[in-house]
Amino acid sequence: MNTETQGKRYGNIIFMKELSNNAAQLLPFPIYRELREKTPVRYDEDRQSWDVFRYEDVHRILKDPATFSSRRGLEVRGETLLTMDQPKHTHMRNLVNKAFTPKAINDLAPRITSITNELLDQVASRGKMDIVYDLATPLPVIVIAELLGVPAKDRMLFKDWSDTMVKGVEDNTDTALAHMMAERDKAEAELVQYFLKILEERRKKPEDDLVSALLDAEIDGDKLQEQDILRFCILLLVAGNETTTNLITNATRLMTEQPAIQDQVRQQPELVKSMVEETLRYYPPIVAIGRVATQDVEIGGQLIREGQQVVSWVGAANRDPDKFDDPETFHTDRKPNAHMGFGFGIHFCLGAPLARLEAQIALEILLTRFTDIEFEKTSLTPIPSPFVFGVKSYPVTFRER
Ligand code: HEM
Repeated sequence: MNTETQGKRYGNIIFMKELSNNAAQLLPFPIYRELREKTPVRYDEDRQSWDVFRYEDVHRILKDPATFSSRRGLEVRGETLLTMDQPKHTHMRNLVNKAFTPKAINDLAPRITSITNELLDQVASRGKMDIVYDLATPLPVIVIAELLGVPAKDRMLFKDWSDTMVKGVEDNTDTALAHMMAERDKAEAELVQYFLKILEERRKKPEDDLVSALLDAEIDGDKLQEQDILRFCILLLVAGNETTTNLITNATRLMTEQPAIQDQVRQQPELVKSMVEETLRYYPPIVAIGRVATQDVEIGGQLIREGQQVVSWVGAANRDPDKFDDPETFHTDRKPNAHMGFGFGIHFCLGAPLARLEAQIALEILLTRFTDIEFEKTSLTPIPSPFVFGVKSYPVTFRER
């Protein structure tokens, strides 16, 4: 396809050529490592994008939002928290923080526990399940739907909409890309219509949910606009569902690929927390974060020009030996663990406390109820997005305790 179209319109959704096959996408880390060692900062003509692989360089980029903007110059959709720069970002983040408090999240623990148990009840006697389909997908969708105040009957609609909005393409042709963009726009339009209805209902009759809290949040008499709330709700679905699905799945994948990890957390259940952190370092659900340079700037001896795209490879930085001891080994109890699986700086994941809580509870219950969790060997399919690391399905067998 023509490079201009590629870089300009789709620069952030196509795979680099080194990762263009299934095997590489199922385990990209050796390739990231090679790129980090050989070309720590390089320009990729195909994608018209810079790629940065070292921890120190990625850290520097994420720490400097004035030079590395989150604005997607080519974004067709409206701005969200994720794509705003300061000072607008600070203002918006403060407002949503008021509704998204650690207490509000921690209060969800009993619900997350019962939802997980209900999901596992359905498969317990079967002795096998698909971690993605039976547990890791429905759990975050149900939790965010409840948090937002969405009725149970509509949950699966959400899953479909939010999946479509983050979907990449398997083949880089203009037709496939255009088709995908059209599908994304349609899913977004449907979600917007849906949320407009919920907003109207909550405005008339507030409930104890996030939408009502967002309608109510204010700073110095300043409230969120309806458009801002709508986009924020959509962002939560897009940013929070598939990522959490992949975290739970990636952790399970690790426990089956390396049974010693499973044994260790069974013997020391208090390690589940740090095991989740190590999963975020070693198998991060988000492996890359995009920015645009606002001025000419040098990184790793390379001159990045104003307006150019820069992709920070968290998946590579998280295994940089200059930052982590023994980086290619999974240490269940690694400390310290300054991974960038949730990003870094002003855009650090707003949903991190929720994602951590869901993953911890899901894994704890999984390990308590079932023993001998093993991968039921089949061929795996990677999630078709260069920024995401995960698999579409992960069948396991187990024994009920
Ligand atoms: C931002 C990862 C779960 C909501 C981010 C960023 C990363 C990330 C890397 C930074 C992006 C950037 O700097 O451009 C993850 C991972 C998750 C997860 C790996 C699960 C394991 C969630 C959940 C929610 C959420 C559950 C909400 C329910 C957000 C929001 C932002 C964000 C709103 C934008 C924050 C801002 O721009 O200030 N996430 N996320 N995420 N995440 Fe998450």
